[in-house]
Amino acid sequence: MGATGATGGALVRSLADRAVPCRALGRDRQRLRARLGAAAGPLVEAHVADAADPASLRAAFSGGRQLFLTMENGPRQVEFELSAIDAALDSGIEHIVKISSPAAEPDSPVAIARGHHAVETRLRAAGVTATVLRPYAFMQNLLLLGPGVAHGGLVVGAMGRAPCNYVDCRDIGEVAATVLTRPGLAGGTYSLTGAETCSFGRLAELLGRLRGRPVRHLDLPPEQLRAQLGAEGGLPGWLADHVVEIQQLAITRPETPTDTVARLLGRAPRGLEAFLTEHIDVFR
Ligand SMILES: NC(=O)c1ccc[n+]([C@@H]2O[C@H](COP(=O)([O-])OP(=O)(O)OC[C@H]3O[C@@H](n4cnc5c(N)ncnc54)[C@H](OP(=O)(O)O)[C@@H]3O)[C@@H](O)[C@H]2O)c1
Repeated sequence: MGATGATGGALVRSLADRAVPCRALGRDRQRLRARLGAAAGPLVEAHVADAADPASLRAAFSGGRQLFLTMENGPRQVEFELSAIDAALDSGIEHIVKISSPAAEPDSPVAIARGHHAVETRLRAAGVTATVLRPYAFMQNLLLLGPGVAHGGLVVGAMGRAPCNYVDCRDIGEVAATVLTRPGLAGGTYSLTGAETCSFGRLAELLGRLRGRPVRHLDLPPEQLRAQLGAEGGLPGWLADHVVEIQQLAITRPETPTDTVARLLGRAPRGLEAFLTEHIDVFR
């Protein structure tokens, strides 16, 4: 699922590189075609399905053995993921790899992580092999800071000096491909991180150095960041809340790197400076 998205798209490319056949799902055929690009072909079969339509999921899963389950964040996320698990069970899927998140706990301070906990719980009780990937924030999220850096020279947040961890979605896709193709790894819960932590202050310094123009870190009280993202920035309320919740979580729970990506992929995770260098034009 989610072949047009960040992790699902990376997984499809990784499976194609390994010559492993798969079915790539999305709600819109044109978007799928555009996202799959050269990966589409005999090994990668594009298939339209919508989690709001369980029959379309069952048709998409028919004949499959393993499911990669991811869903964009949103008010119906839990409902859609549970519906995908039910359809997978109806279709005889034997192994489900779910994208979850850190702090996926029943009393998590992050509402979306509470939803991931509910889906993980259902998945573990479903009677199939369940693998859970819990990545820290995607490096690709940092591109959303691009306009503020390019036009205002500012990195704006509400987590003070908290050390944050970022993981490249391409590494998540490779890990997913690895757990789908090495049976001994199926059934685990994997916390996926990059190799280093970085505060927003250090991020601003790094971006300033890489683009050759200074960048300042502006730390706001949480309620001010929420207002800036929501009413002023046009984000829906639940998403503005989510950004503030994960930033507050970073203050209370240090995002310590793990060696999981290195262990599973046999190489170090992609680095933050390399990622920012690759995308520096977004911040110019
Ligand atoms: N961003 C982070 O830093 C971060 C960190 C930890 C965990 N996570 C978790 O990662 C997950 C999202 O990652 P991602 O890479 O998959 O995100 P994404 O890039 O937002 O992609 C989401 C995918 O969901 C698909 N989708 C949306 N609605 C659908 C529906 N009704 N039926 C079928 N497919 C639907 C979209 O496909 P179409 O729109 O093409 O149909 C898209 O491919 C979330 O669960 C989030 O909580 C994110």
